[in-house]
Amino acid sequence: MALKKFVAGNWKMHGLSSDLEKIRAIAEASRNYPNVDVALCVPAILIERAARAVPGFAIGGQDVHHAEKGAHTGCMSAAMLLDAGASLTIVGHSERRDAHRESDTEVQAKAKAALECGLNLILCVGESLEVRERGAAVTTVIAQLDASIPHESTDEAELTVAYEPIWAIGTGKIPTVGEIAEMHSAIREQLVHRYGAAGNQVRILYGGSVKASNAGEIFSIADVNGALVGGASLKAADFIPIVAAAALV
Ligand code: 13P
Repeated sequence: MALKKFVAGNWKMHGLSSDLEKIRAIAEASRNYPNVDVALCVPAILIERAARAVPGFAIGGQDVHHAEKGAHTGCMSAAMLLDAGASLTIVGHSERRDAHRESDTEVQAKAKAALECGLNLILCVGESLEVRERGAAVTTVIAQLDASIPHESTDEAELTVAYEPIWAIGTGKIPTVGEIAEMHSAIREQLVHRYGAAGNQVRILYGGSVKASNAGEIFSIADVNGALVGGASLKAADFIPIVAAAALV
């Protein structure tokens, strides 16, 4: 059976109290597409207000610390995200891997902490342009996935993998259909290798310059089970057509 599509928005460092209306509008409009799972990953400080504003709609964090608690100034534990009302979190986004020097080992520890605490997870992987141009995209991403994915067999409903080529994020550039198909199929193979048949149930999202105009084509590619959307998730008018495109395939 085909996996239910999942469209998640990553608001990155955008969002103030005045934007709660936008979250309400997105949650409201998403109800028209019950065959698609929709979530918004908002800045940590907005999680609690967002979760209260849209009960029943999935609100997520964008990062989590691997430790339960302790002397980690400025960090947030999985229990804190959950306590604020988050039901999921992103880990391993390239903007954190790059700007905050997060290693695969660290991402793996974060993934484990989130799952153990009961948060669903979107684990991001993706290659740089330099890696893509020298023909090493698939091997690099699979090695990254292998080193950052939790070891334990996981409830497939709790784990989602997002393939986000770094060079496609916020640039308007996207890989070809063939390149996305090749990468998603390699990720699927690796998930099955790791988790057995349950690996077929893990959703694999594509992320990087997804818009209403390209979403339909991306969603029709085999093993693309949804999208992780940055810029186009900030307004219902841009985001909901992407959800609608997911509902059609
Ligand atoms: P854009 O959709 O803005 O390219 O961002 C993608 C992304 O990084 C989502 O996590």
